[in-house]
Amino acid sequence: MGKLIVGNLKMNLLTVAERDRYLESFKKELQGKNVSECEIVLCPPSIHLESFVGKIEKNDFSVGAQNIFWEDRGSFTGEISAPMVKNIGGEYAIVGHSERRKNFNETNEVVKMKINSILNAGLAPICCVGETLEDRQNGKTTDVIIKQIHEGLADVPVSKIATVVIAYEPVWAVGSDSVPTSDEIMEVRILIKKIFADTFGQPVAEKIKILYGGSVKAATAKQLCIDPGMDGVLVGRESLIPMEFVKIAEIINQNI
Ligand code: PGA
Repeated sequence: MGKLIVGNLKMNLLTVAERDRYLESFKKELQGKNVSECEIVLCPPSIHLESFVGKIEKNDFSVGAQNIFWEDRGSFTGEISAPMVKNIGGEYAIVGHSERRKNFNETNEVVKMKINSILNAGLAPICCVGETLEDRQNGKTTDVIIKQIHEGLADVPVSKIATVVIAYEPVWAVGSDSVPTSDEIMEVRILIKKIFADTFGQPVAEKIKILYGGSVKAATAKQLCIDPGMDGVLVGRESLIPMEFVKIAEIINQNI
């Protein structure tokens, strides 16, 4: 499968009617579209995971969680675990998203524990990394990304490392309308490949999927994904509009 197109629906779809309308309209948009080189992953709020999985037909999309807790079961009020997501039919889990790092104190240490739990459950982690505007202005982008990857992936065995998906999401590009240039994204892709090559060896570095995330739209999908040689995109706002989200997949598919 060529490119990975991930929709992070965040804390939206508040009613059953809204959820069903979204799924219906998403499936309608997909009809007759050529996205054969893309794997589309929808990450709804956890309360909707099961209903999203129930709507999958002929592998037209996969489902992922936006977050999980690092323990499998027990007295952790309000949390859901990676095995729960797996057992319901999920395939992915996002981890280390900048909104979680910022609002829920998701440190690299927490990311590490979550990644292990996600991998042990047989899910693929989509691990978000990226610098803040301040980091970038202070020339710290490289240091921040090296640290996030080294610390977050510290316990991953080499046998499982190729399952990890990295999403490069500059914090300043998430939920804004500013985006990096293709060259800036490409620089970070090369950096991430190098970190993987140095830490886990060249064959792993070649296999690892690196996505771009942060203000992806149909109009910029080529510039943000194809031109810098990324393996796909992580889409927030535009994934809530099925027509736009499917258009992003189509454009990426056309330009592979
Ligand atoms: P955005 O969000 O596309 O709305 O910028 C991206 C993300 O949060 O993953």
